Amino acid sequence: MTQVKVFLRDDEIPTKWYNILPDMPTPMKPPLHPGTGKPIDPEDLAPVFPVNLIEQEVSSDRWIDIPEEVIEKYLIWRPTPLYRALALERILDAPVKIFFKHEGVSPPGSHKPNTAIPQAYYNKVFGIKRLTTETGAGQWGCALSFACMMFGLECKVYMVRISYQQKPYRRLMMMTWGANCIPSPSEQTEAGRKILAKHPDSPGSLGIAISEAIEDAVVDESARYSLGSVLNHVLLHQTIVGLEAQKQMEKLGLYPDVVMGCAGGGSNFAGLALPFVRDKINGKDISIVACEPASCPTLTRGPYAYDFGDTNQTTPLLPMYTLGHDFVPAPIHAGGLRYHGMAPIISHLVKENIIEPRAYHQIKTFKAGVQWAQTEGFIPAPETNHVIAAVIDEANRAKEEGKEKVILFNWSGHGIMDLAAYDAYLSGKLTDYELSDEEIQKGLKAIEGFPKPC
Ligand SMILES: Cc1ncc(COP(=O)(O)O)c(C=O)c1O
Repeated sequence: MTQVKVFLRDDEIPTKWYNILPDMPTPMKPPLHPGTGKPIDPEDLAPVFPVNLIEQEVSSDRWIDIPEEVIEKYLIWRPTPLYRALALERILDAPVKIFFKHEGVSPPGSHKPNTAIPQAYYNKVFGIKRLTTETGAGQWGCALSFACMMFGLECKVYMVRISYQQKPYRRLMMMTWGANCIPSPSEQTEAGRKILAKHPDSPGSLGIAISEAIEDAVVDESARYSLGSVLNHVLLHQTIVGLEAQKQMEKLGLYPDVVMGCAGGGSNFAGLALPFVRDKINGKDISIVACEPASCPTLTRGPYAYDFGDTNQTTPLLPMYTLGHDFVPAPIHAGGLRYHGMAPIISHLVKENIIEPRAYHQIKTFKAGVQWAQTEGFIPAPETNHVIAAVIDEANRAKEEGKEKVILFNWSGHGIMDLAAYDAYLSGKLTDYELSDEEIQKGLKAIEGFPKPC
């Protein structure tokens, strides 16, 4: 009998997160203060984040202890199973073994609570009463709502308007966990009002929603802002995925040739990949592939530059691949991948050629997601469909080349709340969005004159 699942016992859960910063092959560029153009002082971030999380953001310790209170909550759904996609392998008839970390088993349905739980915990310990955040597809908003409920914090979520309309059940999940969720841009912040005055029908974007959530937090001393991706501490928390996967692959006596994930802000991809990036830096021969939407091609068509993390220019300038902070991506159903920038850690590793980016059009990703559902059963989130399309390509390539490969990827979330997107695909209404070079250049006008990281 072929083994299709590998479980870890509760007492095998990793008790430390992995911080890649001390292992980077070249030093990363620092975030800059937009006013002075000088590296920011971590204290500048104090109105936005609690100090204990700022310390993690800049830490150079390779291993960081996971607090017991966080492990206790993780154990609700972690360690997550490692599955082998045997049915898909048979259909593809390629010389590959395909493994995936099933992050859809968490209560909100994705990898996002891996960081929501520690972020709520560290805010609580610091004495914060209320968290604000943005959400794209609603997965992150749900995760933070769930985490705030676990630690007795209030939660306010600015949800990108297009997703708010497409995914009403996500809002209801957030409300069930006691959070307040409103569509962004909203009339409740200066940033939202500014956008609505210019574009009353704005579909919103993650960049806009981030501006609103930060503004809401900084005017209230008992509140802080929480970000679901991009930042170092978020990627750090997500490494529990890759650390578990390494133990599970070891139990099988296998090591992956290719590690893959979809990338919006970079967190689920990083979570699985960074422990393997460490192996690659130490000499392992392994491909590490990040998959993004062709309509929001940050890594494949954007420059490596300094840019703001949000539309309203409230964050420090981050060194990253970017399409410009004013760029509003086409309204694809993978709301969590509609972000103009990319995590500085992932950006740095792409620039160093350690990570390879690939881009996929929406229709191809849904075709892959439906093929997955019809073989493996689980219905993937639209974001996850991007990596599934890439895995199928990789398998077909292995077949053409006659090479045996072990593929490991992050199945970042389920799509049970995204069925309207599947409806659009199944009824032939889904479209691809071509992005011209002119549109990309237009978006990049916003960062002309900014400092350059190289
Ligand atoms: C299921 C799922 N996968 C992937 C992503 C992309 O985010 P990140 O790149 O931070 O993992 C999201 C974001 O909302 C998501 O909900």
